[in-house]
Amino acid sequence: MVDGHYSLELERITCRFASRDDPGMPYVAVAEASLAVRAGEFVAVVGPTGCGKSTLLNVAAGLLAPSSGAVRVHGEPLVGINRKAGYMFQADALMPWRSALANVTAGLEFRGIEAGEARAQGQAWLQRVGLGGFGARYPHQLSGGMRKRVALAQMLALDPEILLMDEPFSALDVQTRQLMENELLALWSANRKSVIFITHDLEEAISLSDRVIVLSAGPGTHPIGEFVIDLPRPRDVAEIRLTPRFVALHTRIWHAMKDEVMKAYAAQYAPLPEGA
Ligand SMILES: Nc1ncnc2c1ncn2[C@@H]1O[C@H](COP(=O)(O)OP(=O)(O)OP(=O)(O)O)[C@@H](O)[C@H]1O
Ligand SMILES: [Mg+2]
Repeated sequence: MVDGHYSLELERITCRFASRDDPGMPYVAVAEASLAVRAGEFVAVVGPTGCGKSTLLNVAAGLLAPSSGAVRVHGEPLVGINRKAGYMFQADALMPWRSALANVTAGLEFRGIEAGEARAQGQAWLQRVGLGGFGARYPHQLSGGMRKRVALAQMLALDPEILLMDEPFSALDVQTRQLMENELLALWSANRKSVIFITHDLEEAISLSDRVIVLSAGPGTHPIGEFVIDLPRPRDVAEIRLTPRFVALHTRIWHAMKDEVMKAYAAQYAPLPEGA
């Protein structure tokens, strides 16, 4: 990898976790995994369930120190939390005791931005994600899609150079999800950040990204393939799926992924014993 050209580099990352069954035998979730994102590039990382996607993203965010390997941000070794990155978690991570607006302004105030200014910026971000009129609502008064919009506004309001997104839309119904994906692409196109977007959905990965990285099934997860997505932008995620180029890319990448998905499935769902 060439230093300086990448916003974020993960080099030969290995993550071991203590195993509950046998403390002497650690579980190697991720092994020798390398991946990098260029400035302004949208990279999707796909892999079967439980393979180690969130673990890799936690390493990129500086929330988890790898057992070995290096993380570099703009060519500099990462120490502690990755302050250049914004993070959107797999689970809903809004503060239930704060209104939508107060959720968005929390990070701004934490940065020392004066309360009035933080409110103005927070309100502008809620507007951009289509929730201008919902600032006073609390998370439990919002739909799942609206909560994701608040989380998106919360992340983007801090204007991070790198966006780390962990299956942010996977809990949404298909229509809401496609709306959110299109909105994300529109916001990203206006001000291109480096993105790592984790998903287990290959169609989502292809429709959003410039590059798809396919991870192997665990244990010892690592990239097994990398595919450039040369679909034109701007894209409508629903329409692009119907184009011959999309179908060709999907066929090619699925071919590389299929065996890993089957492995993960077999490991998780061992057949029931006879008569069960
Ligand atoms: N802190 C931890 N301690 C022990 N094991 C862990 C820890 N974090 C993750 N693991 C294990 O590492 C593996 C990868 O977990 P991870 O959450 O990264 O997978 P994932 O690909 O994000 O899964 P999903 O698709 O379900 O979100 C799993 O087997 C998990 O049980
Ligand atoms: Mg995960």
